[in-house]
Amino acid sequence: MLKAYLKYRKARVNAHGIHSPFVFEFYNEIIKKHKAGIDPDIEALRTALLKSKKKIRFDELGAGSKKENQAERAVSSIAKHAATNSKFGGLLARLCHFYNVDKVLEVGASLGIGTAYLAKHTNEIVTLEGCSEVLELAKENFKTLGYNQIETRLGEFTKSLAELKQENKIFDLIYIDGNHQLEPTLAYFEFAMNNSHDDTFIILDDIYWSPEMEMAWEKIKADERINVSIDLFRLGIVCKRPTQRKQDFVVKF
Ligand SMILES: C[S@@+](CC[C@H](N)C(=O)[O-])C[C@H]1O[C@@H](n2cnc3c(N)ncnc32)[C@H](O)[C@@H]1O
Repeated sequence: MLKAYLKYRKARVNAHGIHSPFVFEFYNEIIKKHKAGIDPDIEALRTALLKSKKKIRFDELGAGSKKENQAERAVSSIAKHAATNSKFGGLLARLCHFYNVDKVLEVGASLGIGTAYLAKHTNEIVTLEGCSEVLELAKENFKTLGYNQIETRLGEFTKSLAELKQENKIFDLIYIDGNHQLEPTLAYFEFAMNNSHDDTFIILDDIYWSPEMEMAWEKIKADERINVSIDLFRLGIVCKRPTQRKQDFVVKF
């Protein structure tokens, strides 16, 4: 991970190094203005979760956590290690607002912090989660925040994605944030390619979390159906944008 970070630091550029109008606008409107997306209510909820004394039974269906592997987990620890942080939460909210994103899919809800940021400016959002106790807490959190447009689906991702495929759901943004292993990530990406339009944002979390995730990110960037990739180190964003010349961007964030 350190080696990957040093490589990212060396390669990353700011506005001056970006020669694509789309990515230049993305840099100026989303990256530079991400703080406008940070939400005090979501952050107050995060603080409360970080102080929680509650423990839940955690059914691990994915690659697991590098920090925790017990069946019983403290809510505070889940909030600390699994939730999207405020910087990237602000980026997601700002992106949804600026590009009028309306239909969102999140693969991996956990306590619902990332979901809440995605829901801030969107009308329809589906989030998937395999652990029932954590999803119950996420639902309580959505109530606390007053979001009622969030549809939650409990179950293994593969099963939930197969159902969404049957329903022919097309999304404007798909956030893949769970089960960080090579083959599952490529399968979720394939779902995203089929259930999206030309301008859909496909976002992958933790692209340098493990050698398998690095490999998945390399394969996704190289996919000939993808024309734009934006590497923010923690997150990778790809879009089809078929009219654009194929280019990869490593951008300072
Ligand atoms: C990193 S957390 C999601 C964080 C959340 N997006 C946020 O921003 O707060 C990943 C979640 O995916 C769930 N998960 C992992 N693999 C799964 C699978 N194969 N099926 C269903 N859920 C899974 C885990 O239970 C965990 O809660």
